[in-house]
Amino acid sequence: MSKLWGGRFAKEMDELLERFNASIRFDQRMYAADIQGSIAYAHALEKVGILTAEETRALVDGLNAVLAEFDAGTFAFLPSDEDIHTAVERRLGELIGEAAGKLHTGRSRNDQVATDMRLYLLARIPVSREHLKGVQRAIVDKAEAHLDVIMPGYTHLQPAQPILFSHWLMSFFWMVQRDMERLDDLTRRVSVMPLGGAALAGNTFGINREALAVELGFARISENSLDAVPGRDFVAEILFCAALLQTHLSRLAEDLILYATAEFGFVELDDAYSTGSSIMPQKKNPDSLELVRGKTGRLVGNLVALLTTLKGLPSTYNKDLQEDKESLFDTLDTLDIELPVVAGVISTLRLNAEGMASALRDDLLATELADYLVRQGLPFRQGHHLVGQAVRAALAKGCGLRDLSVAEYQAISPYFGDDVHDVLDFRRAIEQRSVPGGTATAAVQAQIEKAKALLNL
Ligand code: ARG
Repeated sequence: MSKLWGGRFAKEMDELLERFNASIRFDQRMYAADIQGSIAYAHALEKVGILTAEETRALVDGLNAVLAEFDAGTFAFLPSDEDIHTAVERRLGELIGEAAGKLHTGRSRNDQVATDMRLYLLARIPVSREHLKGVQRAIVDKAEAHLDVIMPGYTHLQPAQPILFSHWLMSFFWMVQRDMERLDDLTRRVSVMPLGGAALAGNTFGINREALAVELGFARISENSLDAVPGRDFVAEILFCAALLQTHLSRLAEDLILYATAEFGFVELDDAYSTGSSIMPQKKNPDSLELVRGKTGRLVGNLVALLTTLKGLPSTYNKDLQEDKESLFDTLDTLDIELPVVAGVISTLRLNAEGMASALRDDLLATELADYLVRQGLPFRQGHHLVGQAVRAALAKGCGLRDLSVAEYQAISPYFGDDVHDVLDFRRAIEQRSVPGGTATAAVQAQIEKAKALLNL
C-alpha cells in the first residue's frame, strides 16, 4: 500500500502495525471539520500565491465533492487510509488529479489534527449544552409542580431535618448549572486556532493566520506553535467537565435509586425508564439510573486516561497524542444518550407524597426543640443537651417527641413552656428556614424563579 509519506521508505509497513497505527476507524467522524479546515487553508495558500485561482477552485470543488460523499455515506475507504486527513487527500487526488498534492504545502497533519478536533468540538459543544438545558428544564418543571411535598432530609443517610422535595431536586439544578458554565468557559479555550503551527515550528509560506481563523470561526489564533500543535489541554478540560457532570448525575441517580426502593417508597420510576427481571416477575428495576451511576467509572476513566497519556510527553507532537480521541468521543457519545435519558427519568418520575410523609419521624424535629430553647434564652449548646435528654426519654418510652407531655418536657427543663408542642410541626420547621437558599417554600420558589430566568423560561 503506498503511503502519502512513503517516499523515504524502501519497505511496506508491517500489516499489524498498519492496523495498530491507523486512526481512521475513530477519526473519520471529523471529516466535515477536516474538509472545512482544508478549504480555508486552500484559500490561505491562494492569497500567498502558492495556488492559482484556478487550482484553488479545483481544490475547493474537489473537497466539497469529497464532503458530499461522506455526507451521503458513499465515501469508499481503502485499507491504506491511515487517518481522516490522508483519506480525504487521497480521494481528492483521485477526483482532481495532481493539484491535490499542493494542498498540504506548509501544513502538517500535526496542526491539522489539532485544528480538526477543535472545530469538531466547537460544533459539538452546543449540542451537549442543549442536552444539559433539557435536564435543567425537567428539574425545574418537576420542582415547580410539586412544591408542597415534604420529605426527610438526610445527612450521613440518617434522618436529619424535614425539607421540601423540590429543594432536594433543585440542588441538582445548580450543580448542572455550574457544569454548563464550565462548558461555556472552556469553549473560549477551544476556540483558539493552532493551524499555521505546521509540524511544530510554524508555517514557512507567510500565510495569514488571522484571516484563516476568521474564516474558520475561531475567536483567536494560538501564540506559540510548540504549545498549540500538541496542546490537548482543551480535551482534558472537556473530559474533566464531563467527569464532574457525570459525578453529579451519579449522585442524583443514587438518591433516586434509594428513594425508589420498597423500603423508602418516596418515588416511582416510569415504566418507560425501568426494566424487568428475567426470573423475578415482580421486579421493576431502575436500570436507567444504575447505568448513569455506572458510567461514572468510564467517564472519570477517560479523563485519567488522557492525563496519563499527556504526562511525561516530550515536547511537541508525539504519536501518543492519537490516543486523545477515543476517550473524548466516548465521553461525548455517552453524554449524548445519557442526558436525554436523565431528563426523561426526571420528568416522568412519580412522587409518593404519602410515602415521604410517613417517613417523617418525630426526631427530624429535634433541632426545632433546641432552637425553641434558644428563643427561651438558653445558649444553644445547653438546649442541644436538654433536647438530647428529651430524645432519650422518648426512646425509653417508645414514643415520638410529639408524644411527650408538657410535664415530661418540664421535668427535663423548666425552660420548656406550655407551647412546646407548637414547634413540633414539620411544615413549620420547613417554613422557619426562609433564609435565601433555605428550604422554606418562598425561598425555594425564589430559587426556581432564578433558575427559570437562567433558562429563559
Ligand atoms: N492520526 C494522527 C493523530 O490523531 C494525526 C497526526 C499524525 N501526525 C503524525 N506526525 N504522524 O494524532
